[in-house]
Amino acid sequence: MSEKRFYIETYGCQMNFADSEVVNSILIEDGMTPVQTAEEADVIFVNTCSIRENAETRVWNRLKEFRSLKKEKDHLTVGVLGCMAERIRDQIIDQEKLVDIVVGPDAYRDIPNLLMEVNDGRKAVNVLLSLEETYADITPVRTSGNGITAFVSIMRGCDNMCSFCVVPFTRGRERSRPMTSILREIQQLSEQGYREVTLLGQNVNSYKFEDIDFTRLMDEASKVDPEMRFRFSSPHPKDFPEPLLHLIAERPNLCNYIHIPAQAGSDTMLERMRRPYTREQYLALTGRMREIIPGVSLSTDIIAGFCDETEEEHQATMSLMKIVEYDLAYMFAYSERERTLAHRKYEDNVPEKVKKSRLTEIIQQQMSIQEKNNKLEIGQRHVVLAEGKSKRSDQQLSGRSDTNKMVVFDREGYSKGEYVEVEITDCTSATLIGKPLRKVSLQNYYRKDADAVLA
Ligand code: 5AD
Ligand code: SF4
Repeated sequence: MSEKRFYIETYGCQMNFADSEVVNSILIEDGMTPVQTAEEADVIFVNTCSIRENAETRVWNRLKEFRSLKKEKDHLTVGVLGCMAERIRDQIIDQEKLVDIVVGPDAYRDIPNLLMEVNDGRKAVNVLLSLEETYADITPVRTSGNGITAFVSIMRGCDNMCSFCVVPFTRGRERSRPMTSILREIQQLSEQGYREVTLLGQNVNSYKFEDIDFTRLMDEASKVDPEMRFRFSSPHPKDFPEPLLHLIAERPNLCNYIHIPAQAGSDTMLERMRRPYTREQYLALTGRMREIIPGVSLSTDIIAGFCDETEEEHQATMSLMKIVEYDLAYMFAYSERERTLAHRKYEDNVPEKVKKSRLTEIIQQQMSIQEKNNKLEIGQRHVVLAEGKSKRSDQQLSGRSDTNKMVVFDREGYSKGEYVEVEITDCTSATLIGKPLRKVSLQNYYRKDADAVLA
């Protein structure tokens, strides 16, 4: 047991934020106290991301800043958690002398022991990956956040081996958490007043625990509390289950929003990326999504300038994005990662300048699509879950629509945690602005026939 104060700084994806909440729980259980700033802490952890080089650069810079804190406070311990741990443990510990403890994503239960080793004057490392670890029995402790929306991790790891992606190497093989433990966590969140849960996994539609698949899990999750709404991230287009589309269409509390990463728009690129679907299959899938769930909002991930990308392939990505008209897109320049297939087999040969200009072209097109579509929202009504006060003013609330758009509206008599019907009156490319009309309940507002779907 230790009475130390700890601080965790998290980089990267939502999975990492969910993992930091698991680490919170492990450390609090060990007698430690969470604090909100690095300066107050006896132990600082950085939960790291390796997905692109600039994510790693940010972490390195931050560790260097902590080195000066270490000089001022000689008992200060600095630890690296997460995806960067395994890849650069030797570098971190031996050469740079920045870090005392390194823990990979499957070894968080070992942190209390590792801290004891550090106390005894040793450097401590555990970067072993596991085939089973899901932290199913650990209840995450959410020390930051708004108390209204939460992430719940349902599976870990990835077996897809897209040629550009380091995740299978940093986070290991796919494994799913038992459904009972997921439903228990959702129930607790509902009792604590949370209103929205995003089910998380590197590859959510690969969820499989005994005979339970992802659609069944969503079905059961949505029944825990009909006034709690659900999203999920991220599915893979190669095997998106159509029954899930029908379930989303029917259930009032399954949000009409799907993040469906395309990565690229040409068959040749998709093949080099080891994404096992064609452009045509992808477009057929998004077409079905729009057909089955009227008004569904779609978002995507796109990589510009992957190995050997021709201008024609780039234009195919542009045209795919134009056809689908995503409501939101996460767009990146390709960043070569060690150990991936692309690193071993292909050349990172699109010049930096070309990568950047293609990325800019992709972003500009996307922004103009979003602006155009947001203008069409004016006059529409949305059910918005109020998440808290808006950034600009205490007199305004902000939250997201069922379709995942950020909406800001005057507070009037409404409170955080309520579903409010809002009429959109204005917009920017990123935010909708509206007028609140009334407080609603999900079940009464949508009145869909929920039980016909899975019969
Ligand atoms: N370079 C650029 N973007 C990448 N992504 C994954 N690996 C890389 C890489 N090496 C993007 C993908 C993925 C998202 C999480 O990050 O688009 O869907
Ligand atoms: Fe990476 Fe592909 Fe797995 Fe996503 S599906 S985590 S992009 S390997």
